Amino acid sequence: MHDRPHLVLIGPMGAGKTTLGRLLAQQMQRPFVDLDTVIVQAAGVTIPLLFQREGEHGFRKRERAALADVLAGTPAVIATGGGVVLDPDNRHALRRHGYVVYLRVSLATQLHRLHGDTSRPLLDTPDPAARLAALQAQRERLYLETADLVFDADAGSPEALSTALAARLNSTGACCA
Ligand code: S3P
Repeated sequence: MHDRPHLVLIGPMGAGKTTLGRLLAQQMQRPFVDLDTVIVQAAGVTIPLLFQREGEHGFRKRERAALADVLAGTPAVIATGGGVVLDPDNRHALRRHGYVVYLRVSLATQLHRLHGDTSRPLLDTPDPAARLAALQAQRERLYLETADLVFDADAGSPEALSTALAARLNSTGACCA
């Protein structure tokens, strides 16, 4: 078996990790795992409620445990949450067990895709644009440090982006055969 069997998508909120991940998993005939969904299923409450009850710290603890479980499981396409790279152990585990793709998007694309969203507690603020910019300023370096491949995901339909990313992955030959 490949020693880094998973294909992992990282990047900020609104990058399209879940949408693209699902399509890629179909194309690659692999299971798709959305890490936020795993966390929600384990907690039995929504992410906003989880943040309310346990704070961001509690959420990160659950995120770390869920990631370790998923990485120990069947080879999959994994969509992570935007903050997964904050934890050094997560970054190490991602690189050890996965081929990691950073989906890079502009702030404008994030804002467009996240308009009206109420499922992300970190955006529950009077100025979501400023929050997204601040998070990106903090995290960009971590995304770049963790990724094997940077993929610009601003333009194009999800289907076109997924096909283009699959082609890039095939051409590198490095990913999760
Ligand atoms: C978060 C991103 C969210 C979710 C949580 C925290 C973050 O996932 O994990 O709300 O810290 O950026 P998405 O990136 O899938 O929106």
